[in-house]
Amino acid sequence: MDDRWYSKAVIYCLDIDTFADSDGDGVGDIRGLIGRLDYLARLGVDCLWLHPIHPSPGRDDGYDVTDYYNVDPRFGTLGDFADLLHQAESRGIRVIIDLVVNHTSDEHPWFVAARSDPGSPYRDWYVWSDTEPADRFQGMVFPGEQHETWSYDRKAKGWYYHRFYKFQPDLNFGNPAVRAEIKKIMSFWLQLGVAGFRIDAAPFVIEQTVPGQPEAAKDLEFLTELREHVQWRRADAVLLAEANVEPDELPVYFGDLGGSANRLHMLFDFMLNGRLMLALARRHPEPVIEALRDTPALPRGSQWATFLRNHDEIDLSKLTAEQRDEVFAAFGPEERMRIYGRGIRRRLAPMLGNDRRRIELAYALQFSLRGTPVLRYGEEIGMGEDLSLPGRQSIRTPMQWSHQPNAGFSPADPDKLVQPVIDSGDFGYERVNVTAQRADPGSLLAWFQRMMATVREAPEIGQGSCTHVDVKLPSGVLAHRADGPTGSMLFLHNLATDDAEVDLGSLFADADHPVDVLSDRRYEPAGKLDALRLGGYGYRWIRLRRSWSPEAVQAPPALG
Ligand code: NOJ
Repeated sequence: MDDRWYSKAVIYCLDIDTFADSDGDGVGDIRGLIGRLDYLARLGVDCLWLHPIHPSPGRDDGYDVTDYYNVDPRFGTLGDFADLLHQAESRGIRVIIDLVVNHTSDEHPWFVAARSDPGSPYRDWYVWSDTEPADRFQGMVFPGEQHETWSYDRKAKGWYYHRFYKFQPDLNFGNPAVRAEIKKIMSFWLQLGVAGFRIDAAPFVIEQTVPGQPEAAKDLEFLTELREHVQWRRADAVLLAEANVEPDELPVYFGDLGGSANRLHMLFDFMLNGRLMLALARRHPEPVIEALRDTPALPRGSQWATFLRNHDEIDLSKLTAEQRDEVFAAFGPEERMRIYGRGIRRRLAPMLGNDRRRIELAYALQFSLRGTPVLRYGEEIGMGEDLSLPGRQSIRTPMQWSHQPNAGFSPADPDKLVQPVIDSGDFGYERVNVTAQRADPGSLLAWFQRMMATVREAPEIGQGSCTHVDVKLPSGVLAHRADGPTGSMLFLHNLATDDAEVDLGSLFADADHPVDVLSDRRYEPAGKLDALRLGGYGYRWIRLRRSWSPEAVQAPPALG
């Protein structure tokens, strides 16, 4: 029986600084988050992924760390963090944190020592070149905001490597002392009680950088080492990594030891994300079908993490130029909505024209597909973006709790807020907020609660196989199914605007007593028909079968 917690979880990601401010300084904090745990429990969240919590000059939203063994004093203390872990655990919520060890801040004492003194033991903790490397202007991650990957440091009299911004020097993980330190950092947080890590920029962490050679070899064994280390400290801890690489490069990140994964447990499904966007833009499921078909098989114990929005841009770089243009035309028609020439800096609700039916369709699809769903804060109420803010900040505005000043996020003066709240238009906090939606059983928030409860009652979604059902269907309709020891579910999603009639034919071939468990509206019950109707942007989740095999009875009861 597969009872890995992360295969049945819904992960919710948030920035502490924009979630809830308990002390009125305008910055969200840990005590504010603790005060909202009941909200998250009611929503149905099993795991929180916290964006960087460490002290930082904040030039990349915390992804520039100056002390890995502490929390940013603006967020509270280590004691507050331990309390958060306790309070979350008592509600059945696990907490994972970002592990940002590809680079530090240039203000980290290690880098300060490294650049100040060639004899410092920290010198070799970073990646240096005495001469200007030939690949100085190659490999930039943030084109337009970043101008080089090797920068000259006058004090050090040398060039240092930084895959990201200039103020984020890369650590030299080829140095055994750095490897040991990374493990020590992980041990520290595991000991405190975190359930795992979201590994930032995994492909770059393991890059064996050589000046002048942009195509660096990768030390995948380091990932095996991290896995072993973590598992010794906490057997059920999880490593969830960001590795936005080509599909054929993905399996090695999971590793494969006699059929079981021995490196990372989970990877974000960037490929599916791009294809989902393309499918939504085209109102046609083909790109999702291709993604399901083209994805390499995973070793046992590995899992995808699906998402529609995260804290960065929607990265369309793995689509062809024509496909990217299609998505841009549909969801990012204005230049100011785009970023880095490859992405869109918007939230989902405005991208989908704030069309409730289409938002539900998109999230129903994401949550029914393979893997563990990840939901970004604010998406559950349909928050919008602020395009007047620079870069990726557009989607990092404070959580909209109520119609109170500052959206109930903070009692501070508005000009003291860490980010301005969205206070006008269709997505302003007076229209879009938790309090109003909590009182409305027909709200998007209420829908998310219902949908997430349904996912919880159907463990085969996260644990079972996910396959496209290849039968003749109206052109906008996707049929896929999830099969696992607890039973089978069939999912029909109509990505198009027209109603669709679905001939049940073979779809119900192995159905026991098919029952609808989630749909966009009331339909004729599934069990009695030869054909089903689906409205425009409609969806139906249908339980086909449940099993009562000895191993299945250990699982939560299945719906239907
Ligand atoms: C990936 C993170 O998702 C992004 O927000 C950050 O800027 C870079 N890594 C650098 O840490």
